[in-house]
Amino acid sequence: MTIPIRKFDAVIVGAGGAGLRAAIQLSEAGLKTAVLSKVFPTRSHTVAAQGGVAASLGNSEEDHWRWHMYDTVKGSDWLGDQDAIEFMCRKANEVVVELEHYGMPFDRLDNGRIYQRPFGGHMSNFGEKPVRRSCAAADRTGHAMLHAMYQRNVKVNTQFFVEWMALDLIRNEEGEALGVTAMDMETGEIVMFHAKATIFATGGSGRIFHSSTNAFINTGDGLGMAARAGIPLEDLEFWQFHPTGVAGAGVLITEGVRGEGGILRNAQGERFMERYAPNAKDLASRDVVSRAMVTEINEGRGCGPNKDHVMLDITHLDPATIMKRLPGIREIGIQFAGVDCIKAPLPVVPTCHYQMGGIPTNHLGQVVVPQGDNPNAVVPGFYAAGECACTSVHGANRLGTNSLLDLLVFGKSAGETAVEQLRQDSSEHKPLPQEAIDRSVARVERLNNQKNGTNVHEVRLEMQRVMQKHAGVFRFDNLLKEGVQMILDVEKKVQQTEIKDKSQVWNTARLEALELDNLIEVAKATMISAEARKESRGAHVRDDAPDTPEHPDGRDDQNWLKHTLWYREGNRLAYKPVQMKPLTVDTIELKKRAY
Ligand code: FUM
Repeated sequence: MTIPIRKFDAVIVGAGGAGLRAAIQLSEAGLKTAVLSKVFPTRSHTVAAQGGVAASLGNSEEDHWRWHMYDTVKGSDWLGDQDAIEFMCRKANEVVVELEHYGMPFDRLDNGRIYQRPFGGHMSNFGEKPVRRSCAAADRTGHAMLHAMYQRNVKVNTQFFVEWMALDLIRNEEGEALGVTAMDMETGEIVMFHAKATIFATGGSGRIFHSSTNAFINTGDGLGMAARAGIPLEDLEFWQFHPTGVAGAGVLITEGVRGEGGILRNAQGERFMERYAPNAKDLASRDVVSRAMVTEINEGRGCGPNKDHVMLDITHLDPATIMKRLPGIREIGIQFAGVDCIKAPLPVVPTCHYQMGGIPTNHLGQVVVPQGDNPNAVVPGFYAAGECACTSVHGANRLGTNSLLDLLVFGKSAGETAVEQLRQDSSEHKPLPQEAIDRSVARVERLNNQKNGTNVHEVRLEMQRVMQKHAGVFRFDNLLKEGVQMILDVEKKVQQTEIKDKSQVWNTARLEALELDNLIEVAKATMISAEARKESRGAHVRDDAPDTPEHPDGRDDQNWLKHTLWYREGNRLAYKPVQMKPLTVDTIELKKRAY
């Protein structure tokens, strides 16, 4: 079968923060750049980021990129690559100021500088006390950021393909990336986007869990495509549960609420974080706060008739501060919990929020895979940035506000590297392999022809329930083992999904089935990698990991200070070393993490 081919210098999949930032770099350099997105760019999931973007501007008090770097390495429970972390923290001020120049409406201090608030795990002077590092536009930072970057892209003539879903990554025999196949959601037409540089910026996959702050579009499309094309997925056992999702609804309540002075309380009204993190208290890192909340609930000190949540209290704050700094949160509280947070505390529970793992990349945004003795060989023409990439700056646990920073720094970096490579290589587009087209067509044909198959919604729900129960905030050996078997059983059902509606125009049933193909790859990678990692680290906490002086909090550096790589073929696992050496400064040496 032949399908239409469209040629570009670069194709970017995803129009959230990372995709938009990469596109600016390419289009400003005069390269013909296509951005594909399932939704209108300003509706990408970055829109949901509330509390801010980290940068050690020091606008309200002293701050330094080296303190930021220390906090990020510590937050990652030392699984983060220190070269990439140094790169990100050093670049933070530059990319935030650039954004300001694109027109980002940051909140302002009286002296006109960007307003900054404290956030979990961000401390001054190598862990001493919370510092104001998060640059915020009220509690709508991601929203403001998307608008500023979308406008900039319009100015530099980026070509947007809105409501297009990428189906498969195209690689040739040599492993080079040559673009993607994609479906026009409006017409059902499949088109080949042929490019010299392919950048994935498809965001997270939080919809593998039942309770998630992630948008419905967060279905791990980039990870699914990469896995099917033979690229391993890195560190997917590490999933962040945000402490404050609205109980019952999962909608995000920004950590900025605690940054502005909010307090978590149990059924007795106790500020319980004082017991778990005496120094940072409610502003300890997210994994620490989430576990403390679940412990309170498990030990019977939860709130409500079912004792299944805790309370986030800001009733002591001046209502004017709430209206100025947290207006969106007040709205969310009223809409989703029926609570006006000016008058009463909000019911909250930890909710799946962020994947620390993803497509392996280096700090230049290039996708890397093991090859011979080299654990990080570059895949020519292939880049990834933002949540879909594992650079790995977040290691085993991400600090709040480092995600918006990650997507700015590495979106720009991937764009810059691609520009450089394209300038060096003046050759024509490489020939497209026919089987790449056939593969995508075959996936759609299978759906069109499937008889007596499974129901997409039922199978997705089954997958989400398995993930929630078997790979949640606390993990247990027997549940993980069972979970592996269960998720492999779910996979068989995913291979037989059937859609009743075979029409071409705006067929959402078909799109959801194609998305499920991607979700299941992420779910398998998560469960299998988690079962194999026999220690506790960051967000991956096993009840059977021994807590001894040699293994504080169950962390086992001797055996497990390494990145996991999951390969789709045969569900094989491999490991590669953590980069402990930064680019220019001294290594931040291993120690026990305490807040
Ligand atoms: O809590 C928040 O505002 C979320 C921020 C983040 O995930 O970085």
